Amino acid sequence: MAAVSASLEVRALSVGYGPVRALRAISVEVPAGAVVAVLGGNGAGKSTLLRAISRTLPFHRGAVSAGTVAFDGRPLDGMSPAQVVAAGVVQVPEGRQVFARMSVADNLRAGALGARGGRKEGAAALARVHELFPVLADRARQRAGLLSGGEQQMLALGRALMARPKLLLLDEPSLGLAPMMAARIAATITEINSRGTSVLLVEQNAALALRLASSAYVLDVGEVALSGPADVLAASDEVRRRYLGVVDETAAADVPRARTEAPALSRWPA
Ligand SMILES: Nc1ncnc2c1ncn2[C@@H]1O[C@H](COP(=O)(O)OP(=O)(O)OP(=O)(O)O)[C@@H](O)[C@H]1O
Ligand SMILES: [Mg+2]
Repeated sequence: MAAVSASLEVRALSVGYGPVRALRAISVEVPAGAVVAVLGGNGAGKSTLLRAISRTLPFHRGAVSAGTVAFDGRPLDGMSPAQVVAAGVVQVPEGRQVFARMSVADNLRAGALGARGGRKEGAAALARVHELFPVLADRARQRAGLLSGGEQQMLALGRALMARPKLLLLDEPSLGLAPMMAARIAATITEINSRGTSVLLVEQNAALALRLASSAYVLDVGEVALSGPADVLAASDEVRRRYLGVVDETAAADVPRARTEAPALSRWPA
């Protein structure tokens, strides 16, 4: 079988914010067309990884101290954030960051600035965004700050899609959303991916992320603690206990495994 060339390659990347070392020599790959998840608790370095890829670290007073990032074989190191967007890599930042005082339509227009292609491609991208999120067409003239949290996440995704990304970097798209809205966003991510856009998905909602992704990385204080196929990680004891909210089974350690056939999964109360 011919090897598929990895579209995003992060190699031995180290990042610091002044004296704070946020990432230590981490390597991550997103093969062309894949959805790859990055899991990890607060402060693990998930957002830092996305900022390093999108070259937006300086806005947070951070800097890469070692390592490389390449997309489709081209180094992104040294590019400006706008050049990274032009190369096809577009980030949806943590907390949506829509332009609250601007209209929905103007937020989408802003997403198209610096995108590849001309007017025709821009119109097609807008039609596509409206098809995915009809509410953004209905509310085109409304101020973005008046949208609900879920609608703002749709707008943030829509704005990123206006740049016609080859790779989307998503920072906790389900954060703060009701389960129904999180499921809706998840379905949209799958739909976007099915049209050929690769996705690097940062999530604290490990259950959701592992359902969407083909492979995943678990970050722990700036290092890759675990990585592998999403289904293998979802079945691993460590991931189940630490990230999927599975109750500690050590008290029942002498109960043979075969007797605990029903998966001992529990959920946070709704
Ligand atoms: N602008 C900053 N200045 C200084 N330290 C920072 C800054 N941003 C992040 N850090 C530190 O870098 C480390 C990684 O932070 P990061 O925001 O990447 O984590 P995260 O995995 O995205 O966490 P969360 O799930 O809470 O969003 C943490 O120790 C954090 O305190
Ligand atoms: Mg974060």
